[in-house]
Amino acid sequence: MDTARRVRILRQHLQTEALLGVDAVPRGTTTPAAAVAVEPSPTPTPQFAPASDAAPELDRGTKLKVLQAMDNDEVKGCTRCVLCESRTQTVFGEGDCDADLLFIGEGPGQTEDELGRPFVGRAGDLLNKQIEAMKLTREQVFIANIVKCRPPQNRTPAPDEVDACSDYLRRQIATIRPKVIVTLGGPATKFMLDTNTGITKLRGVWHQYTDLLSGGLTIPVMPTFHPAYLLRAYTPDNRRKVWSD
Ligand code: URA
Ligand code: SF4
Repeated sequence: MDTARRVRILRQHLQTEALLGVDAVPRGTTTPAAAVAVEPSPTPTPQFAPASDAAPELDRGTKLKVLQAMDNDEVKGCTRCVLCESRTQTVFGEGDCDADLLFIGEGPGQTEDELGRPFVGRAGDLLNKQIEAMKLTREQVFIANIVKCRPPQNRTPAPDEVDACSDYLRRQIATIRPKVIVTLGGPATKFMLDTNTGITKLRGVWHQYTDLLSGGLTIPVMPTFHPAYLLRAYTPDNRRKVWSD
C-alpha cells in the first residue's frame, strides 16, 4: 500500500473514532473495524434463520410497490389511534425498501412531523453520522418508527397507540426482510423484544425478532441507546457503547 493511501485510511479511521468518542488508538496491525470494537458482544452474531415454511422473499420492485401502497392507501389517512388528531402528517419511514439494516425509533418528533420524514432533527443528524461511520448511507438502510404519528410533546407512545400502529411496522419488516434490526432506545426495544427489561441491560447483546408474517423467520436484533439520549448524555463511555453496538 502506498504512503498516501495509508495516510488517508489512517485519517478516516481517526475521524471516525473521534466522531464516535473512541479515544484510544490500538497499536499493531489490527484493521480499523477490529480496532474500534472495544466492547465485544457477549453473544455471537446470530444468523438469519430461514423457516422452512417462510414466504418467498419479494423482489425489490415489488417491495417498493407494497410499501408505497401501504403508505399512500393506509398510513397517510390513518385514524386508528388518537395521535391522528394532533399530527401534521404521518411519517412512514424511508430508505432502501430492500435494505439489510433496519433502524427502528420511537416516533416522529416535531421536525419529523413537519417534514413527514423520520430522524431529520438533531437526533437524526447524529444517526446520520453513525450510519456514515459504518461506511453506509441513509439511502442504503431503512429507518422507521414504532408509531407513525408524533405523540404530543414527544411523550412516549401509549400502549394502545403502539398496538394500533404496530401492524404497519410488522408489515414493513416482513416486506423489507432486513438481515439485522437495530432498535433505538427503550420503547422500540421493548416493543420488538416484547420485554420490560431496560435498554441498559439489553443493549450490546444480540436478541431475536420472529417475523410471523413471513412464516416465522428470525431476525437478529441489536438494541442500542436512542440518539436523542446520547445527545443528552454525550459521554465517551456512552458513545463507545453505541459504536460497539
Ligand atoms: N426520534 C425518533 O424516535 N424517531 C424519529 O423519527 C425522530 C426522533
Ligand atoms: Fe394510525 Fe399509527 Fe398514526 Fe395511530 S400513530 S393514527 S395507528 S398511523
